[in-house]
Amino acid sequence: MAITIVALGGSLAQQSTSLAAVRIALEGAAAAGAHTELYDIRQLDLPMYVPNTTDVPDAARVLCDSVYACDGMLWSSPLYHGTISGSFKNALDWLQLLGDRQPAYLTDKVIGLISTAGGTQGLQAVNTMEFVVRALRGWAVPLVVPIPQSWRAFQQGQVLNESLAA
Ligand SMILES: Cc1cc2nc3c(=O)[nH]c(=O)nc-3n(C[C@H](O)[C@H](O)[C@H](O)COP(=O)(O)O)c2cc1C
Repeated sequence: MAITIVALGGSLAQQSTSLAAVRIALEGAAAAGAHTELYDIRQLDLPMYVPNTTDVPDAARVLCDSVYACDGMLWSSPLYHGTISGSFKNALDWLQLLGDRQPAYLTDKVIGLISTAGGTQGLQAVNTMEFVVRALRGWAVPLVVPIPQSWRAFQQGQVLNESLAA
């Protein structure tokens, strides 16, 4: 049976390089035989997470059910002010709904991490994501993909650098 990989990524920008990057990684997972699902931060359009709310939007329920059922994930956030974006963190906050599941949160799921940055490095966002992976009881893949100067690497959602895509 194929494993299922769920990708969560992108930004609220109309053309998002972090979304383009995670699409490529997800295509790689599909080419390796995985069943894949993509959750685009902009399309999810999640409200700010409110602790203990009973007003859970459908998008948050669907995301959490998918994440709970998957074997592994890919996360991709832009680097904002030296960390992950607020919209990406808010999507992760909604995973709090998995706190009551058995097993809880991301227990023993494997997470691959990608970031895109305008400047010369993007590792701070990856490092922040790794803290979250650990807090949610998952495992971060050792090889990470911080993409610097994303404005050079992508145009209209297409990657310009084939070695980066590989
Ligand atoms: C609010 C904001 C903060 C940013 N902060 C940083 C930063 O600290 N370092 C950096 O290299 N780029 C920074 N950038 C540039 C983004 O990381 C870069 O444009 C990224 O590729 C955007 O991802 P997206 O195309 O998925 O929206 C920032 C952009 C915005 C809008």
